[in-house]
Amino acid sequence: MSNMRDSFHSRIGFVLAAAGSAIGLGNIWGFPTQAANNGGGAFLFVYLVVTVLLALPALYAEVYIGNQAQKNPVSALEDACRETAPKLGKFAGLIGLGGAIMMLSFYTIVAGWMLAHAISPLAELLGYHDISQWLATSSTLRNLMFTPVFILLGAAIIHQGVNAGIEKWSARLMPVLLIMLVALITYILQQPGAEKGLKIYLIPDFSQVTNPELIISAMGQAFFSLSIGVGGMMVYGSYMKKDRDIGKLAISITALDTFIAFMAGLLIIPALYVAEAAGQQIFQGDKLIGEGQLIFNILPELFSSMGNIGMIVAIGFFSLLSIAALTSTISSTEVPVAYLVEAKKLSRSKATWIVSAIVLAASMTLITFFDSLFGLVIRVLTTILQPLSCLFYFIVVGWLWKRGNKLRDVSLQEGRKWLPIWGNYLRFVCPLLLTVVFVNVAILN
Ligand code: PFF
Repeated sequence: MSNMRDSFHSRIGFVLAAAGSAIGLGNIWGFPTQAANNGGGAFLFVYLVVTVLLALPALYAEVYIGNQAQKNPVSALEDACRETAPKLGKFAGLIGLGGAIMMLSFYTIVAGWMLAHAISPLAELLGYHDISQWLATSSTLRNLMFTPVFILLGAAIIHQGVNAGIEKWSARLMPVLLIMLVALITYILQQPGAEKGLKIYLIPDFSQVTNPELIISAMGQAFFSLSIGVGGMMVYGSYMKKDRDIGKLAISITALDTFIAFMAGLLIIPALYVAEAAGQQIFQGDKLIGEGQLIFNILPELFSSMGNIGMIVAIGFFSLLSIAALTSTISSTEVPVAYLVEAKKLSRSKATWIVSAIVLAASMTLITFFDSLFGLVIRVLTTILQPLSCLFYFIVVGWLWKRGNKLRDVSLQEGRKWLPIWGNYLRFVCPLLLTVVFVNVAILN
């Protein structure tokens, strides 16, 4: 394969890898936390609306650009804008690449916490109580140990390439995740207090659905959850044979991602009320007491109240989060790796190690200046960089791609009647909607 690009060998391989990228800590931690903090059902409702109206079209645009170009995101955007604004395209690609590194810098830290929490109950079961306590307690030393471990795990998979590494591992790991989630939900729903949580989650309070802050949080969550706006989905799209039906694929990925977020809500929100029924204080007013608490305090306490079985449940749950995080980091890492391999002619393994070293340096910086940097990087990425990149993808697909309109060409070629409507939706409505939300973010910040 010296001159040829590696690729996904099957359509399902692509869907699983892309779903593996989408499904991560954002679904299992981010979504339920945001839902619990924003009225449960109301958040779920708005999330579904923004996912269909904006996130799904943005995913389509991102995968489409990559698929047409068959190149890494920087070159793909440069190519797509070749006749109109190539420099701008390249610049946007590089910004996305920076976004991928930013994402990795904090995501690998949180993923390290998950690993530590997966090992902690194991240590307890084996009788190493002190080690177990240390693993379950947040500390800089723990971060300094587990973040590199996680980065190494990701690098080991990426290093194997697209088919042998990404496609095979995503196909193996994703079904395990779903099985674990279903088992945990079945358990939690039988506990006292679960029913109250279920009602709060499933019955929306419609008086809240027009709250602009709620809409903005739901949009940020949807973009982060679908991994759009940093080039990860674009690079995966480029590894798929040209001119597949991207619409159907985007719908499958969105449906899988949203389904897992929904299921995670079905686990976590009832679990909160089970813990509350058992006497723990979960909410202050209508907000959670500390967002980190949700996963790292309340759930472990709940697990440990179940005795030894709870330890096994805890190992399962945090392993599930670690697996989900791993398949998500792979797509972001692939963005700079593909760029270095294709545009800078490095070998895949050299590129993987260089990128891993950069991510390690970035995450170590975040660990060192945790209080001032950690939240800031997350906010800049999810509320500014990802929405802006998606806006750019819409503009590329609708306006900058050839002087005419690439989408119209495709729709004419394929002779599909609905495609012009879809094209115009991407061209006019999506950028407008996103701009309105973006201006609101700026005002609220
Ligand atoms: N979608 C992932 C999650 O929900 O956890 C996070 C993510 C992965 C964001 C890859 C961006 C990305 F490129």
